[in-house]
Amino acid sequence: MSSPELAKIPRHLAVIMDGNGRWARRRGMPRIMGHRQGVKAVRQTVTACRELGIEVLTLYAFSKENWNRPKDEVTALMDLLYEYLERELNEMLKNGIRLEAIGEIDQLPQKVQEKLAAVMESTSSNKEMILNLALSYGGRAEIARAVQKIAQKCVAGEIRPEEIDENLVASHLDTAGLPDPDLIIRTSGEMRLSNFLLFQSAYSELYITSTLWPDFDRQELMKALKEFERRERRFGRIGRSFAQACTAIAS
Ligand code: FPP
Repeated sequence: MSSPELAKIPRHLAVIMDGNGRWARRRGMPRIMGHRQGVKAVRQTVTACRELGIEVLTLYAFSKENWNRPKDEVTALMDLLYEYLERELNEMLKNGIRLEAIGEIDQLPQKVQEKLAAVMESTSSNKEMILNLALSYGGRAEIARAVQKIAQKCVAGEIRPEEIDENLVASHLDTAGLPDPDLIIRTSGEMRLSNFLLFQSAYSELYITSTLWPDFDRQELMKALKEFERRERRFGRIGRSFAQACTAIAS
């Protein structure tokens, strides 16, 4: 599916939502106010992505490293997540959004785990878009868990070591069944992946904006998608225009 506004859109868009703390600090507010405003940006982004026909939207909502933040900030983030799930269920049902989650979900507070499971179950047959939340997520840990699962199958005689290839590894990651992200957006100007989708991002286009996450909106999303539209993805091959020039010279 493609949007009339864009000639091509990513099937899978992943976002590193960064800058909530700085947004709040610049206004002399507590960090939690930045996270609250960040939830508004989440709502706008989810709506815009569904309207544009994006198939999968993955949001890096809480990393494994985020557990090291002050306890009150962690609690506030978990409360915001719970409230978001509770408030958005009807909207997800109305708009055909299926909720999924990746990461160490069993590390989340019991109440959040239960809410997450309930929303995932209620939205499981929705077909318009997958909203995939990365929670207590770390890319290296995800790969290590996949290796463990594969090793257990080897020990049990279900697979032979020589059968292990990239596809087999991918099928044991939390994202099994989802396409790799075509585009990763990071807000707040930091130029790194911060342990996000390390295996899956091998050929993802990266778009970094200095805009802080709470200020991210449909207009900012369109800027990123316009830039993606202009990029030529080569997956290690030579460029199309270069290949055409070579063919012209050879003929
Ligand atoms: C990074 O900003 C953001 C986070 C660690 C949390 C992101 C969470 C939300 C946007 C709200 C909850 C999410 C959902 C899906 C309801 P930062 O605090 O690291 O910002 P800083 O680098 O400026 O300090």
